[in-house]
Amino acid sequence: LWTPANIIEDAIAKVRAQVGERQVLLGLSGGVDSSVVAALLHRAIGDQLTCVFVDHGLMRLHEGDQVMRMFAENMGVKVIRVDAEQRFLDLLKGVNDPEEKRKIIGRTFIEVFDEESAKLEGIDFLAQGTIYPDIIESVAIKHGKARVIKSHHNVGGLPEDMKFELVEPLKELFKDEVRKLGVELGLPREMVYRHPFPGPGLGVRILGEIRKEYADLLRQADHIFIEELRAAGWYDKTSQAFAVFVPVRSVGVVNDQRRYAWVISLRAVETIDFMTARWAHLPYELIEKVSTRIITELEGISRVVYDVSSKPPATIEWE
Ligand code: XMP
Repeated sequence: LWTPANIIEDAIAKVRAQVGERQVLLGLSGGVDSSVVAALLHRAIGDQLTCVFVDHGLMRLHEGDQVMRMFAENMGVKVIRVDAEQRFLDLLKGVNDPEEKRKIIGRTFIEVFDEESAKLEGIDFLAQGTIYPDIIESVAIKHGKARVIKSHHNVGGLPEDMKFELVEPLKELFKDEVRKLGVELGLPREMVYRHPFPGPGLGVRILGEIRKEYADLLRQADHIFIEELRAAGWYDKTSQAFAVFVPVRSVGVVNDQRRYAWVISLRAVETIDFMTARWAHLPYELIEKVSTRIITELEGISRVVYDVSSKPPATIEWE
């Protein structure tokens, strides 16, 4: 019988049988899959699990702190947080091309993860949040986009210098099943049903060169948008919604003062499979509220636009 409780019980037994008394390493990203694996493995093997959480500085507002609060503080999971923001920013300096940015972010992510794991002793297993669709077809490969650890370690096996055996407790499950497991394991519903977030994070939502100033503004704008979407009951009606930083300066007048500042685009789509998507017909009042808040609360933004492009031909992300 398929119930989340049964699946969890079964997965726990399998993990215990595979791992025994030995140690497991997990790359925790804050996404649904790796979070569910963390919760599951913590229940199965407790302290034998060590998570490495690489913060590339391109996460959403307070996201890194939330990951630490949920896993390290609330659940008592061993999590090593690596603050790699400056390293990523340095490497991304002057880089404009989207695919180049993706490559740098993906490659550096793996480097940082590998460096951290090399510092740990006695690890025999690497856990992964691989789910069934990752195995039948890799979206990442189809898109030619790096999907960091996942694509690095599970497509075509492990690199030669890695001596880990894989633990993949979700590999027979679909996304909706993984979410049900997450809720059953006590993860907050809000986290488990979050919209997908790309591996390169805000890196592909800042057009062209990435700068900390841009990332900070985008984080704030995105936070306002998502907060208002949730408040209006629209978050669960959209498949993905986010803000995009458009590095173009536009004139505005605030309190009789001219402001020459950046542009934010709001993007919200409805889709089943993410291969095609319709722009979400959000209520004008909602867009208006978000726009007003962004422009009044963020001095660096003078204009907000709403993206009315569907996919195809426009992709969901702007890069
Ligand atoms: P596009 O922009 O191609 O996006 O219409 C389709 C879905 O894929 C996500 N996406 C990515 N996910 N690494 C990821 O892990 C990436 O480089 C990447 N690019 C796009 C996007 O957020 C959407 O859900």
